[in-house]
Amino acid sequence: MRMYDLILKKRNGEALNKEEIDFFVQEYTKGIIPDYQASALLMAIYFQKMNKEETVCLTESMMNSGEVIDLSSIEGIKVDKHSTGGVGDKTTIALGPIVAACGVPVAKLSGRGLGHTGGTIDKLESIPGFSVEMTKETFINNVNRIKLAVAGQTANLTPADKKLYSLRDVTATVDNISLIASSIMSKKLASGADAIVLDVKSGSGAFMKDIDEAFLLAKEMVDIGNNVNRSTVAVVSDMNQPLGYAIGNSLEVKEAIQLLKGEGPEDLKSICISLGSYMLLLANKVATEYEGKRMIEQAIESGKALQTFKNFVENQGGDIAYIEDLNLLPQATEILTYKAKKSGYVHKIEADIVGVSALILGAGRDTKESKIDLSVGIILNKKAGDFVEEGEILAYIHCNDFAKGNAAIDKLATAYIIEDFEPEYRPFIYGVV
Ligand code: URA
Repeated sequence: MRMYDLILKKRNGEALNKEEIDFFVQEYTKGIIPDYQASALLMAIYFQKMNKEETVCLTESMMNSGEVIDLSSIEGIKVDKHSTGGVGDKTTIALGPIVAACGVPVAKLSGRGLGHTGGTIDKLESIPGFSVEMTKETFINNVNRIKLAVAGQTANLTPADKKLYSLRDVTATVDNISLIASSIMSKKLASGADAIVLDVKSGSGAFMKDIDEAFLLAKEMVDIGNNVNRSTVAVVSDMNQPLGYAIGNSLEVKEAIQLLKGEGPEDLKSICISLGSYMLLLANKVATEYEGKRMIEQAIESGKALQTFKNFVENQGGDIAYIEDLNLLPQATEILTYKAKKSGYVHKIEADIVGVSALILGAGRDTKESKIDLSVGIILNKKAGDFVEEGEILAYIHCNDFAKGNAAIDKLATAYIIEDFEPEYRPFIYGVV
């Protein structure tokens, strides 16, 4: 088989078969196919697209390019949750203990990654002592014992996706639905879950800016999951403004814990209840989504979810005094304010711009080597739909450096869109696939 022929075939709009896709994925991962030929194929896929069969083959081939985790020694149906990413997304931190408190095992492999803030692991490391380093045996025992464990992703999970994603990033071939869906699903399938609930975001802070595109991506991923016998559900939700009020690592952990304490913002609660109810449904814990919602609400109201979170943190070496008293979590030295220049209704808070403001403060990584400042970030004081008077505070900027704080404020000034009239109602959850 020759790579040249595969590129030509795809360029001419023909579908690649399983052998050809396997050949490409395996030989590229081994370094035999050069980047320039892989780039040409990716660009041909970008323009000519892939059909469902090709997308499933690509997903399975990438999944099998490295270790496929075997979670069969964990009792019960393991349901994984994945978010396509957004600003202020602390859902996993709250949802893991909520679902575990309902008796469903949560065995989560998480990453750090680049971004406006750290990944779930970075955020959890705001709690002193907390660690995700553990053997596979300990990981499995922890889930069997307390129903929840979070470990760092092994280096050998889907190496083909790691290489291809880096190449897509520099060849303008990221935003193709088949390529995104196969990339995400290959990692989920390799992580060993029996069923998958996807949180697909749509809006300015998401990969998919457009709602129709978000639904297409959701459908593509659900089809892949169902094709390989893993029940998969996708919830499509809004990311036209950050999720909740807090953006930044320890600030987000605080907000997630507040939710477990029965407080916390409505949008965060709503997405946790929605995703959680589908997780319980796919785990056969409940018969209907409605029953799932009730069980999730009870887990929060009874304090069981909070207790599960404490058990989980303690089990992974974290100091639970920081959960009892959230003021102990890392705090920035200065809190600056960003005030409204005019009165009116907040129509939009461009989530990606708020993300960049957080990155300026030091909450995220520019490069793999960047060090994250866990204490800095932004607390929104007003969200879309709120009325604000001129001079009222729109956001608090938690910083350790005035220059960075002021630069973040300058950036934030372009994120808020304020008008004289009330905004139209926009649902937070657009639908379920
Ligand atoms: N996230 C992924 O893991 N892969 C993509 O292609 C896009 C988002």
